Amino acid sequence: MISFNHPLMNNNIEKEDIQNLIDFLSQDEIPKLTNGPKVMEFEKAWGDWLGTQYNLFVNSGASANELTMLALAHLIGEGEIIVPPLTWISDISSVLFAGHKLVFVDVNFENLSFDIEKLKAAITSDTKAIFLTHVLGINGLSEELLEICENNNILLIEDVCESHGTTFQGCKVGNFGFASNFSFYFAHHMSTIEGGMISTNNWEFYQVCRALRSHGMTREMTSLSMRDSIALENPDLNPDFIFLRPAHNFRSTELNAVIGLSQLTKLDSKNSERINNFNYFMSKLDPNKYHTDINIEGNCNYAFIVILKDNDFDKRNDLENKLRENRIEFRRGLSGGGNQMRQPFFKSLYNNFENYSVIEHIHNFSWYIGNYPGLSRDNIDFVLEVLNA
Ligand SMILES: Cc1ncc(COP(=O)(O)O)c(C=O)c1O
Repeated sequence: MISFNHPLMNNNIEKEDIQNLIDFLSQDEIPKLTNGPKVMEFEKAWGDWLGTQYNLFVNSGASANELTMLALAHLIGEGEIIVPPLTWISDISSVLFAGHKLVFVDVNFENLSFDIEKLKAAITSDTKAIFLTHVLGINGLSEELLEICENNNILLIEDVCESHGTTFQGCKVGNFGFASNFSFYFAHHMSTIEGGMISTNNWEFYQVCRALRSHGMTREMTSLSMRDSIALENPDLNPDFIFLRPAHNFRSTELNAVIGLSQLTKLDSKNSERINNFNYFMSKLDPNKYHTDINIEGNCNYAFIVILKDNDFDKRNDLENKLRENRIEFRRGLSGGGNQMRQPFFKSLYNNFENYSVIEHIHNFSWYIGNYPGLSRDNIDFVLEVLNA
């Protein structure tokens, strides 16, 4: 195993988090460790931090994506979902698994989110939702995008798995959509080892998600009226075992929630370090060699973003060799490794990328490098020196 001078993430889960877990497990009476009061406490604390009314802890960000898309199919039916090709694979698979149709729209260099003109052109009478990804801590929202959703009566779903604490117009992203999804995987802003959250202000959506998190069981709903009306429609079924639609078990455990509660108390202070690091990094990155014109207002990032200006494979290979030589860990292609449309299962569907020039460039000529609390200016200067040379 390579040991890195500069890994992608460092010390995300700390001794004090583990101590909190040990304290929890050292109670005289060992609590039931499956989804229970600690999960609810974490959901409440998360809602207080983010500002959303209803929050549902699940076992991964990918599960949050899938549950969201299944709940949409249940509530408003299957239809077209607009996704960026720059995202994580679960934003794609969740759409497919729920029976929706994928519509890819290219991104832009300014905020790594949808190209607005192409987005407008992609909307049809069958568009159900725009599934936006805030890429690596960069706010992907704009007034125009929100207007497009409102004027066309299209739901906005925010994937905030890479952007906990990023803001748009002073408000945390994840508050603008009908629902938002977060990941607490180790490499993200905070970790529950594995874990994710669905946040929303919509009561009905929340109730459906509660059922779908647990095999589809309606007894998980906290709305008695919703539960009762489903029971009345199904008098032949035991109300304890009514399954809304085919679903999964996406629950997490009390242990993960205890770590989440412990991590959440440190999130803001860690994020402010990340923001300082990121702003410093972007201010020193050579604008002649790299795209430094990204709109970083409101950023909150666990990774430094590096996008080469030239379409030059020799330069790309040189750069990667230098990073390897200096044991700086990196990932090419930003979120999810670049153009999702190039994945093997799409080869027969998509092969003409003329309309996707930005993601194509990002696919070949971009990287992310770790940005975590505890990095000194010397650490960051070391990375910059390698890149700028
Ligand atoms: C944008 C985005 N969505 C979803 C996910 C999935 O999260 P998880 O790894 O917790 O399943 C990730 C993971 O990195 C991600 O970056």
